[in-house]
Amino acid sequence: MQPQPKPQSERGGIVVLDFGGQYTQLIARRVREQQVFSAILPCTAPLDEIRSFEPVGIILSGGPSSVYDKDAPKCDARVLEQNIPVLGICYGMQWITHTLGGTVQTAERREYGRAHVNLGPAHSNKCPLFADLPASLGIWNNHGDKVLSLPEGFRAIGHTENAISAVEHPQRKIYAVQFHPEVKHTERGTELLRNFIFRVCQAQPKWSGAAFIEETVASIKAKVAGKRAICALSGGVDSTVAAALVHRAIGDRLTNVFVNTGLLRKNEFADTLQMYKEKLGLHVIGVDATDRFLAQLAGIADPEEKRKRIGREFIAIFAEEALKLSSQSESEIAYLVQGTLYPDVIESVSVKGPSAVIKTHHNVGGLPEKMPFALIEPLRDLFKDEVRRIGRELGLPDEVLLKHPFPGPGLAVRLLGPVTSSDLVTLRDADAIVTAEIQRAGLYNKVWQAFAVLLPVRSVGVMGDFRTYGLTVAVRVVESDDAMTADWVRLPGDVLERISTRIVNEVRGVTRVVYDISSKPPGTIEWE
Ligand code: XMP
Repeated sequence: MQPQPKPQSERGGIVVLDFGGQYTQLIARRVREQQVFSAILPCTAPLDEIRSFEPVGIILSGGPSSVYDKDAPKCDARVLEQNIPVLGICYGMQWITHTLGGTVQTAERREYGRAHVNLGPAHSNKCPLFADLPASLGIWNNHGDKVLSLPEGFRAIGHTENAISAVEHPQRKIYAVQFHPEVKHTERGTELLRNFIFRVCQAQPKWSGAAFIEETVASIKAKVAGKRAICALSGGVDSTVAAALVHRAIGDRLTNVFVNTGLLRKNEFADTLQMYKEKLGLHVIGVDATDRFLAQLAGIADPEEKRKRIGREFIAIFAEEALKLSSQSESEIAYLVQGTLYPDVIESVSVKGPSAVIKTHHNVGGLPEKMPFALIEPLRDLFKDEVRRIGRELGLPDEVLLKHPFPGPGLAVRLLGPVTSSDLVTLRDADAIVTAEIQRAGLYNKVWQAFAVLLPVRSVGVMGDFRTYGLTVAVRVVESDDAMTADWVRLPGDVLERISTRIVNEVRGVTRVVYDISSKPPGTIEWE
């Protein structure tokens, strides 16, 4: 099968071939930070697919395997013969060595963590990879095997105490390092990557938000032609940016559906709906389905069961709306817009083989088959911070771009036990106070998430001259880079005090406030 032709903005960048390394995404990000497009492909990608990006450079990632493993991942050895510069990182270096006839030794001891690489002659040799870098660098290692002897034509340009750490074949423009220049712990790692990208590959820094928007809008216009599209908005950044892009391309031939699950934050449905219509000019249908969700959740305490029921109901509602729209409109609704991001796409790319399935991440889950929409996923090449940048260029307000993440099942997973409408009112009021006080303290944009959780725990207290026996609110404020790990925020005492006092005074039925000091792991960010 011939690969799809790539848009202009995706050509002339760097292709990263993934051997299953934990830092592969980081490599792609570091390249893009230099305004150069990068695509991650599984190491097994066919040569034609790699060449369809017309890359000016190829990076071979790290990976957990040994080149001697029975099913050690490999890529097409012809990537080393394309007259395209190659940089191997860690396993990438071992694979190059092994493939071109050098020797890799299974190490007695793993080099893990900090080390120093001494470049020595690299300086006098003027190796472009290390141009303008000092002769000794603090680096981050994470490897077992090491290179023992080099393939013909290669020379070692850097050593750690235990191993050859950097090699080059200047005529063939093949370079490799045993350490990880993409991680922050490696000193001047970004400069090393910049040296590869610009000095060795001579890439042009042309990957920009404006170019991306222009090309994406043009290609959506051409694709949708006279037909129509629908999009499920969640109020969050990804679906909103996706909708704004498609709206720019096809205007009101995009209909958006925004469902009130009854599990949103205080005033969120009305405020967001108004913002969609007035500030973004989107054609949006607001569907208030609060009662349907509450009916589904009645008496259900198990968190997984709550999630399942919410997901199912959401799909049912969206499907009904889509069918209604289809029957009303004169032109066919042929497309469904989703805010799928690059990490969603590549997390499911396996390095094991070309037959590996690339799973599409469905934000609205498995829609019934009788609705044969083709997908439009305009953000599937972008990382979260890039989506924010695109959103900003599209003129989206900060209230969307800087909004804290919010789980699909909403407040249902922050209200422990069965969901009732009166508990939802209590939780919403407490949550609004947490947000307001975090904003007042100037912390909203500095933390990852700040919210309230309503616990089904009653405790004894005293208010005025009366004994109370009220509910407990837990306050959760965390910092994180990617939600994979998180730490609780050391909030100033006066901020905690204001939150606590206001909740107990202003929210009926709550008499105790506790602060959650669990990190992730072992906790998760949400309580359910
Ligand atoms: P946890 O609780 O797993 O959450 O530490 C990590 C991040 O994901 C959000 N989250 C969800 N987002 N659907 C979503 O779209 C969900 O079911 C869901 N559960 C958790 C959570 O808010 C945090 O940012």
